[in-house]
Formats: sequence, C-alpha cells, structure tokens
Amino acid sequence: MNIQALLSAKVSQAMIAAGAASDCEPQVRQSAKPQFGDYQANGIMAIAKKLGRAPRQFAEQVVANLDLNGIAAKTEIAGPGFINIFLDPSWLATQASLALDSDKLSISGVAPQRIVIDYSAPNVAKEMHVGHLRSTIIGDAAARTLEYLGHTVIRANHIGDWGTQFGMLIAFLEKKQQEQNSDIALSDLEAFYREAKQLYDQDEAFAERARSYVVKLQGGDQYCAEMWKKLVDITMAQNQFNYNRLNVSLTRDDVMGESLYNPMLPGIVADLQQKGLAVESEGAIVVFLDEYKNKEGEPMGVIIRKKDGGYLYTTTDIACAKYRYETLKADRVLYYIDSRQHQHLMQAWTIVRKAGYVPESIPLEHHMFGMMLGKDGRPFKTRAGGTIKLADLLDEAHERALTLVKSKNPEMDPEELNALAEVIGIGAVKYADLSKNRTTDYIFDWDNMLAFEGNTAPYLLYAYTRVLSVFRKAEVDEQSLTGELFLTESREAALATRLLQFEETLLQVAREGTPHVMCAYLYDLAGLFSGFYEHCPILAAEDNQTRQSRLKLASLTARTLKAGLDTLGINTVERM
Ligand code: ARG
Repeated sequence: MNIQALLSAKVSQAMIAAGAASDCEPQVRQSAKPQFGDYQANGIMAIAKKLGRAPRQFAEQVVANLDLNGIAAKTEIAGPGFINIFLDPSWLATQASLALDSDKLSISGVAPQRIVIDYSAPNVAKEMHVGHLRSTIIGDAAARTLEYLGHTVIRANHIGDWGTQFGMLIAFLEKKQQEQNSDIALSDLEAFYREAKQLYDQDEAFAERARSYVVKLQGGDQYCAEMWKKLVDITMAQNQFNYNRLNVSLTRDDVMGESLYNPMLPGIVADLQQKGLAVESEGAIVVFLDEYKNKEGEPMGVIIRKKDGGYLYTTTDIACAKYRYETLKADRVLYYIDSRQHQHLMQAWTIVRKAGYVPESIPLEHHMFGMMLGKDGRPFKTRAGGTIKLADLLDEAHERALTLVKSKNPEMDPEELNALAEVIGIGAVKYADLSKNRTTDYIFDWDNMLAFEGNTAPYLLYAYTRVLSVFRKAEVDEQSLTGELFLTESREAALATRLLQFEETLLQVAREGTPHVMCAYLYDLAGLFSGFYEHCPILAAEDNQTRQSRLKLASLTARTLKAGLDTLGINTVERM
C-alpha cells in the first residue's frame, strides 16, 4: 500500500479541476505532527503563485474538488494554504487487513528494472578489513530492498584481482607450494602478502621471476593463469566465510573483478583516441577534461594508459560502466564506494558519457559513505595503529554480545547462548552502521551499539521477540486469527498508519540507497507498538472481537518488523 502515491494522485486531480496544469506537483508528504493530520499537501502555495491566485482561496477550491470519500475522515486547510489530511480509521483498518492477507505486505510493486549494484570489492591476497564493512553491508541492504520491491538485482563484486603485484604473488605462491609440497591454505593472507613483498624487495632473482610472471599472466600463459585463479579462489573462499557470517547475500557467482575488464582496455583506449577524446601526452594516453581544472586552472589530464603501456584504475572503471550497460543491460547502476573515490568515479563517468558508452538516461550513481572512526574521532584502528581485520571485529562482537546475554540469561544453555550472541553481536555491528546516514563518518562504539535502549539492534530484536511473545501467551497461532480488524483507539490508528507506510519507506531506501531510513522507520514502529501494547490490552481485552483485532495488529507489526530487518540483512531470534 502506497498511501502517499494514492493521495498524491487524488490531490493532483483536484488541483487540475481547480485550474492547475496537468503536471502540477501536489507535494504530498507524511505529516510531522499529529495536529497536521497524517499527510499534508504542500504544493498549493507554489501552484497558486504560478496561477496568480490567492493561496488560501485556491486551497479551498482544491479541497472542494478533493474526493477522499472513504479514505479520509477530514481535510483541513492550515496556515497560508497547506492541506492536512486525516485518514479514516475504517479505511486504515481495511488496508491493514489486506496487508496482513498478502504475502509481501501488500506492496503495490514497481516497474521492474535491472539494477547493477557494485559493492564489497575486497582485494585478492588480502584479508577483508573494517574498511570493507560499510560497502559490504550498505550495498547488501540496497540489494535486498530493491529485490523486495520486485527489481532484478545484479550483484557485482568488483574485487581487486588484477595488477602488477600478481607476478609477485604468483612467484610467492609457487615458492610456498614447493616448500610445503602441497596446496597451502592461505589462512593468513596478510602475512602472505607481507612476506611476498619482503622477498620481492630483498631477493633480486625472485623479483626477476615475479616480473616475468606479470608479463606471462598478461599474455595469457596457462600456468600463471592457474596460479592466479588459485589466489582468487583462496581469497574468495575466506571472504565467503565473512559474508555468510554477516548474512550478506554475496556468493562466488557475484564476483566480477577488475580482471574481467582487462580484455576491453586496449579497444577502449583506441576508441577514445579515435573519437578525439584521448591524446598522447609525454608518451602516455590522456583525456583532458574541461570539467576538472588542475592547480594552474588548466583542464585536468586523466591518464588512461601509462607510458609503459599499463592501464589504470580509471580505465577499468570506464570499461566496467560500459560493460554494465551493454552486456548486463543495466537500467541503473549503483556504486557503494567510499567518498574518497568520488572524484575518480566522476572522471571515469564523464569520459563514459562523452564517449557515449552509457546514455544519460541510464543513471550511474555513486552512493558514497564516510569512514568508521574510533572513539577518539580518528580512523578506526587497532591499539597498535594497524588495520582491523573484519573477522577479528566480528569475533569481538560475538564475545561482547555473549557476555551481555549471559548476564541477562544465566540459566540458558551454552549452545543457545552462543547462537543468540552471534545474532545480537553481528546484528549490532551491522545495525550501528546501517542506522547512520551513510554520507558522513561515524564513531564505532561498542557500548552504544550493544545497548538495549535507543535505535540499536538489541532494542529492535528484543521488540520483535516481545511481539511474538504475545502469541505465545495468547496460545494462538498467528495464522489462525479470525474476525475483523478494526481501529477504535487513537494508538491503534497511529500504529496501523505507520505499518502501512512500510512501502513508502522501502521506496525511499530504493531511491536514495539510504538504509538508515528503514532503521528509523522500524525504530519508530517498535516505539508505537510498545505504546499500543501498554495502553490497549490485548490478552485482557474487553471482548473477544477486540482481542482478535489487536492480535491482528500485533501480527502485522511482527511481520513488518521482520520484513524490514530482512531488507537490512539483520537476522532475528524468537526469544531472548
Ligand atoms: N577494490 C577497491 C578498493 O578496495 C574498490 C572497488 C570499487 N568499485 C569500483 N568499480 N571501482 O578500494
């Protein structure tokens, strides 16, 4: 149910009948305060001005033409010409009933698009660290949300699996295999990379072999290709462990690393030269962009092929955008990459648009995010100043959550405690991140994210179990509720209205790629439920009809909380 869209259509009809143009913007929004009704139309003033009419008078005429029969209980004109709409509880009750009967909470569905989402993107032969967390979980929430709405999502894990360092890595893998005479488990990728680099810097013969392997790998040599693939496999098997633990929906099939675009690069450089967009400059091939000026105020040169013939990160991203449009047939492409890479992307896409590789009608969107900071406000690091491995962070989350749940449930058996700690610990880390507006940096704080009060995972997970406990206490099955859903108390109507705004919330997250909007919605919903629960007795309701109706509202609340948390990739538990 999309109330906003329904009311927008109705108000705009009335505006046209009152003399507005057919493309008028009614600007219907959820009202911020109960005295302004449930929704308000803010478009009157702007349209009246255009028409040269007095806003209040125009508003009166719009309201006279506004047909909200059966939908609204009343409409009011406020201030200079806002129209406040108060929804009719019996209409809300009907809509809530319909939502309860539908398997996707009666979302009206969208015109389905093919949407490519670029997220996670760790690097081969390196372990995932906290720097990959935000892209991984925010991108995954976007993917889940878009899928829930009915879009086709193509997950693109743009892993760093190409570059000159692979000669060194192959040579080192070879050495390790010879020493151990068997395939190694790269359980410590960080050490592997570090040792490879050390050897490369110290041992000239090794460095020589490494350099020859790069050339061979680029030339398609089979041995080198196999060794390269081994490195990718080992890394991605290890990353998959993190993905599974994080309840992130990426799999090995979603890998579309930098190497995929490598064969396209020579053609792209030649094409850009041929189109007159790229020129030779000091031996390199460069695109000069008027849109970006250097310190001297001259057009900035973006190198797409180095003097030594090597290609760059930008060249790959040009090819990658082209591929996503041409080959993957994307209608829209979202990139979850930190804000420091914004200029890089803008340059690549400026070139992509100029070359006509992706038409302007296909949005390429950088959904950027800030950094995770420590409590001291500096980039989040280990005590010794090193980068924090993602796996270590998740272990710590588990440990901390375990201490917490143990203290709350001293009687619980260890296995159950462990399972609970995993859900709460991982949920807390994810939720703390997802609930913040992604565009800014945020402070990573264990105590805040594990608190049972406030907009946190423990609070929401607990709220969800509380709703479920109503059914356990009532000894009824959610599926077997009978009778009508009706709304008599204002708290019931407020809860129902918010429940019916689930689709509007999903749509906003889908449009802006901002899961914090869903978090804020769920937090608000949980609060409304607890107000309802306190003031509108369910099990002790005055009669069975009221009891059934309130159980239905509770059931819709449980399903909406669960569906919302699912779009965020947050696991739930039945009791805690
Ligand atoms: N691997 C890169 C990094 O770790 C991120 C890649 C993002 N995606 C892209 N299409 N450039 O910084």
